[in-house]
Amino acid sequence: MAKPKVFVTRVIPEGGLNLILEACDAVVWREEVPPSREAMVAKVQGVEGLLCLLTDKVDAEIMDAAGPSLKVISNFAVGYDNIDVAAAMDRGIQVGNTPGVLTETTADMAFALLMAAARRIVEGAEYVKEGKWQTWGPTLLLGHDIHGATLGIVGMGRIGAEVARRATGFNMQVIYFDPYCDPDKAPFVDVELRCSLDELLAESDFVSLHVPLTSETEHLIDAQALDKMKHTAVLVNTSRGPVVDSDALYDALAGGQIAYAALDVTDPEPLPHDHKLLSLDNCLIVPHIASASWATRTKMAVMAAENLLAGLRGEPLPNRANPG
Ligand code: GLV
Repeated sequence: MAKPKVFVTRVIPEGGLNLILEACDAVVWREEVPPSREAMVAKVQGVEGLLCLLTDKVDAEIMDAAGPSLKVISNFAVGYDNIDVAAAMDRGIQVGNTPGVLTETTADMAFALLMAAARRIVEGAEYVKEGKWQTWGPTLLLGHDIHGATLGIVGMGRIGAEVARRATGFNMQVIYFDPYCDPDKAPFVDVELRCSLDELLAESDFVSLHVPLTSETEHLIDAQALDKMKHTAVLVNTSRGPVVDSDALYDALAGGQIAYAALDVTDPEPLPHDHKLLSLDNCLIVPHIASASWATRTKMAVMAAENLLAGLRGEPLPNRANPG
């Protein structure tokens, strides 16, 4: 029997890729950068399955270019704001994602960014590399304490809860804003302080974002929100770039409204090399690598492959983003 035709939009770790190559007639996009829109439209024609990345916009046009054979779209990510899930549901296409396996790895990165910002790790490393280190200095590269500080978590889902758990181990006070989380079922310990977003912004020394990107969360952190934060506050974003208004963030950092931002995600993404945020000393940016550990990316690859293969067999996906 002919193997099902699929398009895989990038080389994923081989634990997952091999499962796909064995079971499918697969075309794999082997470039470092994503396929262009035109290439996507051409490559998806007649496929039964599409394995895509968060860098691929998969909307009705792409689904229609694939045609009625398309049964499953498997995203190699937990977030699936790149996929028009409603359009997929209208066409009876299942959409899969990779929740759970990257929770702790992403929480580790949020905490690493928080610590790097508070203790000026990157500036310190550059200072040494640039040959500026002459002596131990009583006021050299002073930062802010992490222990005893208040961490405000915006979005108390799986990842937010793991960041909270790390923070309690560091003796931080944790408060959180999440209109959707049931406090009685909160999957974490020692975090009792649920508050409004305004209270969180006003009281936190560190604000860490853990919401999905939706129409409700786009520019949740805008100029008004930034105005409510402490002048000494640090903003950490490992969620999605557009949750923060980049222009407003630039103004807040340049004008001293907030002290520092540490970002794994940006808007736009990738951030052009001449973007104004990169001109700031108080903004640390890494290239969307929060889930980038060897182990986690392998688990994501296997999970994305299993979702794809289940969808091709016409079975419910083990991890389905759109309700059945
Ligand atoms: C990464 O950002 C993901 O959503 O998995």
